[in-house]
Amino acid sequence: MEGTPGLFVSGTGTEVGKTVVAAMLARTLAEEGKRVAVFKPAVTGLEEEGETDHALLRRASGSSQGDTEIAPYRYQPPASPHLAAALAGEEIEPERLRQAARAAAANADAIVCEGVGGLLVPLSPTYLVRDFAADLGYPLVIVASPGLGTINHTLLTLESARAAGLEIAAVVLNPWPEQPSEIERDNRETVAELGEAPVEVLPQLDLSRPGTWPPLQFCCRRDENGPI
Ligand SMILES: Nc1ncnc2c1ncn2[C@@H]1O[C@H](COP(=O)(O)OP(=O)(O)OP(=O)(O)O)[C@@H](O)[C@H]1O
Ligand SMILES: [Mg+2]
Repeated sequence: MEGTPGLFVSGTGTEVGKTVVAAMLARTLAEEGKRVAVFKPAVTGLEEEGETDHALLRRASGSSQGDTEIAPYRYQPPASPHLAAALAGEEIEPERLRQAARAAAANADAIVCEGVGGLLVPLSPTYLVRDFAADLGYPLVIVASPGLGTINHTLLTLESARAAGLEIAAVVLNPWPEQPSEIERDNRETVAELGEAPVEVLPQLDLSRPGTWPPLQFCCRRDENGPI
């Protein structure tokens, strides 16, 4: 989106750690002294226990955005957003999402957006997460698990991203074990080689203690490759 730099955090699927990685990126940027906005086009599964994605993103970024400013569409059932909206008698409107993301970015030095599920998840019957990422135009961070199966999932996601013209900032393997196995170490190298993308790792964290979170420095490198 014009002006404010940003990152779009997607993943190989649901529950891979997109919110955690987006939160780490937001906190890293905030610790650099930036005013950071966070955004997520739709949050589903509000009926489930635990901190919501928008609440963790707000806590990590230090932003004072309200729930609707972070996530314009929020639904109780843990379903794909197109279905959760339909069950509520609604349809998610792409233009409302673009305007809300633009408004969030306008008041910040940087914005971190989290997708929903993976890139081909429908926000509405005709508008995918990938379409929204392309509309925003921010470099993509792809979160993936470190273990068996991740080469295929990550390469498919990279191919899908590039087919839509998305720029790749990095793949993040999460949570990266203290003592990675041979498979995990090979996954890291193979994804970097075959995927032709930088691969970063994030260890298991105590999410209740932000002071212990390691910075994800790749988002604020000041060299020519730094996305922000
Ligand atoms: N590095 C980590 N350290 C500690 N806990 C983690 C880490 N990564 C993920 N988790 C935990 O794993 C679960 C899934 O992570 P997260 O909510 O970030 O996934 P997600 O991809 O955002 O899921 P969704 O598709 O529902 O948005 C959460 O309970 C989160 O706290
Ligand atoms: Mg999430």
